[in-house]
Amino acid sequence: MARYESVLDAIGATPLIRLTRAAEGLRPRVYVKAEWQNPGGSVKDRAALSMIRRAEADGSLRPGGTVVEVTSGNTGIGLALAAAHLGYRMVVFTGSQTSREKRDQLAAYGAEVRLVDAFVPRDHPDSMRSQGLRFAAETPGAWFVDQYDNPANPATHYATTGPEIWADTAGAVTHFVATVGTGGTISGTGRYLREVSGGRVRVIGADPVTSVYSGGDGSQKYIEGAGHFLHPEAAADVWPLALDSGVIDRYVAVEDQDAIDAVRRLARTEGILAGGSSGVALAAAFRVAEHLTEDDTVVALLPDSGRAYLSTYFNDGWLAANGFRGPAPAQGPTAADHATAAPLVERHEDPAEAVRRLEAEGFGDDDVVLAAYRRSGRLLAPHHSDLIGWTTLGRLRGAVTVTGTVRPFGPRLGIGLPLSDRAVTAWSRAEGEIAPVLDRGRVTGTVLWRALHPIAAQPGGEPSEKPPLA
Ligand SMILES: Cc1ncc(COP(=O)(O)O)c(C=O)c1O
Repeated sequence: MARYESVLDAIGATPLIRLTRAAEGLRPRVYVKAEWQNPGGSVKDRAALSMIRRAEADGSLRPGGTVVEVTSGNTGIGLALAAAHLGYRMVVFTGSQTSREKRDQLAAYGAEVRLVDAFVPRDHPDSMRSQGLRFAAETPGAWFVDQYDNPANPATHYATTGPEIWADTAGAVTHFVATVGTGGTISGTGRYLREVSGGRVRVIGADPVTSVYSGGDGSQKYIEGAGHFLHPEAAADVWPLALDSGVIDRYVAVEDQDAIDAVRRLARTEGILAGGSSGVALAAAFRVAEHLTEDDTVVALLPDSGRAYLSTYFNDGWLAANGFRGPAPAQGPTAADHATAAPLVERHEDPAEAVRRLEAEGFGDDDVVLAAYRRSGRLLAPHHSDLIGWTTLGRLRGAVTVTGTVRPFGPRLGIGLPLSDRAVTAWSRAEGEIAPVLDRGRVTGTVLWRALHPIAAQPGGEPSEKPPLA
């Protein structure tokens, strides 16, 4: 075993592990790079240490200084452990969708965690980035890390991750598969592997299907860390400078459900507990491997452990609530049995135009209409964050703006959720008369409160206490 004089020296040099059962039936050898074995639990420890070392060297970070970063968790954890060890104050701005486990880990290292709304355009003064930048500018001795544009992020993967994979496969690697968040991992590792192999190694970007990188509509996804999301009202789509797109031979787009299935299967067949973005990388790697031969060696980089996602991808209740398929389909009637498909209207659309369009499509005054932010390309199955609420065709008639007619939703209901589920039984009229129904995380229809609670909906009926009728 190696011996280290500090926890920082234990970052990197992660093992390559061959998949046997999960890769059964595939011709090439498939290895995973176990980045969860870094001290903070993810690949981002490498970038965090590298960025801190560079800032110390160029004088941006001085003894007793404050490290400030905007992060979905893992970079913050890497920075927080290094900051704790080196004696810096650490302030992390993160979104409320960042898993509870990651936020708690940040706090455990002594980092100050500022929870902010992540669903704000990047250029808006309230965006996570704007708030982080402002805080750093106003705090003496503070340094804003800026992982997205920091050259020390890809540089560490060129210096360490790439050479480790080359050495540990004895130069046999032919395909490298990784997800793309800031792009640091794939750009640095990919560039090294291409150079050292004389261009032989193929570099594959594994991307959530809605991510802009692989041509998706930019709408939100359920997989933390991977992909590039674009707020529907962003003035411009800014890609990270840490991403060198020229290194990536091609992208493989992966559905959230397939990524979740892949990590759940990995845990049960290999005994490897990995996170959601690992599922994106794995699903892509398996798809690539199907077309390869016994002479090929595929390496998929798994960024972090599944421990941070025990309450989400590995939780049957979470899967059901968001409409993902779990191991055991619900018995008896579900929200889906009462759901109907609903058309969309964009919030800036002229209401009169919308009424004409919806009438032409055969909808009537009582039909529910979903009101959405604008996106390029029609959203047929939006993410719930793309919706501002619901309205009806009748309400749009004669209205000045779509927004003025919109009402809030009741709770989100997964398509397989049994009617006995608490989310359904606790739904009261006060919360809204209409709930969006989610199929694999996307809103595909709506259900009326009175359809699930017909007795309570009658005059004099109890609003929420009665059990729903099947
Ligand atoms: C869980 C997870 N997966 C993947 C990535 C993407 O890595 P990179 O930013 O190097 O592209 C990140 C980055 O934060 C992450 O936290």
